[in-house]
Amino acid sequence: MSFEKLDVDIISEGLRTKVIGSEVVVFKNTSSTNDIAWEYSGNEANNGLAVFSEQQSKGRGRMGSKWLSKSGQSLLCSIVLTNTKAKPQLLTLGCAVAIAEAIQNCCEVEPRIKWPNDIIIAGKKAAGILLESRIGKGKSDYVIGIGINCHQDQAFFAKQKLQIPGTSIDIESKKVVDRNELAKELLGNLDRWVEIAGSDGGKILERWKQLSSQIGHRITVEFNKQRFAGNCIGVDPVKGIILQLEKGGVRMFEAAQTTIVKHL
Ligand code: BTN
Repeated sequence: MSFEKLDVDIISEGLRTKVIGSEVVVFKNTSSTNDIAWEYSGNEANNGLAVFSEQQSKGRGRMGSKWLSKSGQSLLCSIVLTNTKAKPQLLTLGCAVAIAEAIQNCCEVEPRIKWPNDIIIAGKKAAGILLESRIGKGKSDYVIGIGINCHQDQAFFAKQKLQIPGTSIDIESKKVVDRNELAKELLGNLDRWVEIAGSDGGKILERWKQLSSQIGHRITVEFNKQRFAGNCIGVDPVKGIILQLEKGGVRMFEAAQTTIVKHL
């Protein structure tokens, strides 16, 4: 089955953003859209540039994982952010909110955020974020890489060994999502939430908590090869996820060293 192609003109038409999507480029094939975004990031005039590709030969995910997608089936996107004031942890949480809201607005499904930054639908992963940074003297450059599964079928995920089972928007909505519309919605939301990440961390946390699949639920995390079970009572952008432990006491677990092993 062949799907609609990503189209710069459709994505850019009527896009009223301050920074994100200042320019939009679409590639047929790349190694990774993050690599292309880094090539552009040397020039401050490219702040907000959005790089899309129909396919990646070396798509990468968090913690050294691969991000796989057949041509034309996903929204594979990287945003160039030069000289940003926002803290990376808040940027990641803000991007997760932006993606969840974009999917919700376009696709008649109820996405949720699984800490720290997986977007899930009906308990399965539909999108992920890979935030990369280059911090220099008084200067922080970022590339926000986003992968959203759109047109994949069940067979595609059945073949993969994934930590969290995968899904696509089409599977969950039982419709065919228009990727150009979703891309436009995504850029609009990112523009709003990236700006908020630089000015109002409280607002991000409040919205993130509303969209969280975990706050108020019993979860088990693995930290330093040890498991901890408890009720998830909050999240701190820097210190991580906060659990009221079953053994007693409250403890925070940092994103970089923690995996959620059981939820509900
Ligand atoms: C994750 O592990 O959840 C993050 C996945 C991020 C994948 C996207 S796809 C577009 C961009 N280019 C990449 O190589 N990775 C990100």
